[in-house]
Amino acid sequence: MHRIKRFETISSTNDYLKKNYSGLEDGDVVTANHQTKGRGRNGRTWLDDDSSLLFSVLLKDRLDAKTISLLPLLTGTAIFLAFKDLGVPSQIKWPNDVMIEGKKSTGILLEAITDSKLEAVIIGIGINVNNTDFDPLIKDKATSLLSYLGHKTEKSKVLDSFLSHFDILYGEYLKGNHAFLSILKAHSFLDGKEVSLNYYGENRHGRAIGVDDSGQLVIDTAEGPLTVQAGEVTLQSVYQEKSR
Ligand code: BTN
Repeated sequence: MHRIKRFETISSTNDYLKKNYSGLEDGDVVTANHQTKGRGRNGRTWLDDDSSLLFSVLLKDRLDAKTISLLPLLTGTAIFLAFKDLGVPSQIKWPNDVMIEGKKSTGILLEAITDSKLEAVIIGIGINVNNTDFDPLIKDKATSLLSYLGHKTEKSKVLDSFLSHFDILYGEYLKGNHAFLSILKAHSFLDGKEVSLNYYGENRHGRAIGVDDSGQLVIDTAEGPLTVQAGEVTLQSVYQEKSR
């Protein structure tokens, strides 16, 4: 069971957990209708819209530092399964997004708190649920559950469904079972697409072949196959699908 703390407005659900994690419990969830300082990856802002489900999950106590890079993939898979239960087909864009009909529906921002050891992991998730009006900056690239379904969905229903799938996948992951990767591999958005990425400061370009059994993305580049781990790279762009 997760304890869920709900705010109407907060700076950022991730920041709340970062500040308060030591007095909170493993599995605690914070959700808010509005964020005044919502953060996305790579220092970007996450635009505020109360039609979105905005929340963060705190993990502590039972952490596996060696496989932390799998957590965004596990989270994306739990979202994929929650969407499936709601009748919405989606794809997981390695390593951090969930796409519906080729557009971004969900962003995941994973942050680790380390002292001398890994103290806590915060998984921040923004899911476009009932959004209809998108900012002009993201209008062509973003979608919501409402855009697909044509009707509204209770945000709490999406949260409950996500948490029940997450608990099952995370419980197995802690036992060393990474079977969720087979779901991800079967529904991977990037397969066959041309990608550009920053790999240790170098720009690399190639065609994504797929996600391998250890959760790494395999890319066919002019210099040969390149296998990259989530966290090692920043995906810069994705081009249209190539016929194979
Ligand atoms: C991204 O795609 O760039 C990641 C976006 C993550 C946004 C969520 S909303 C809830 C949580 N709180 C934040 O400040 N960010 C995450």
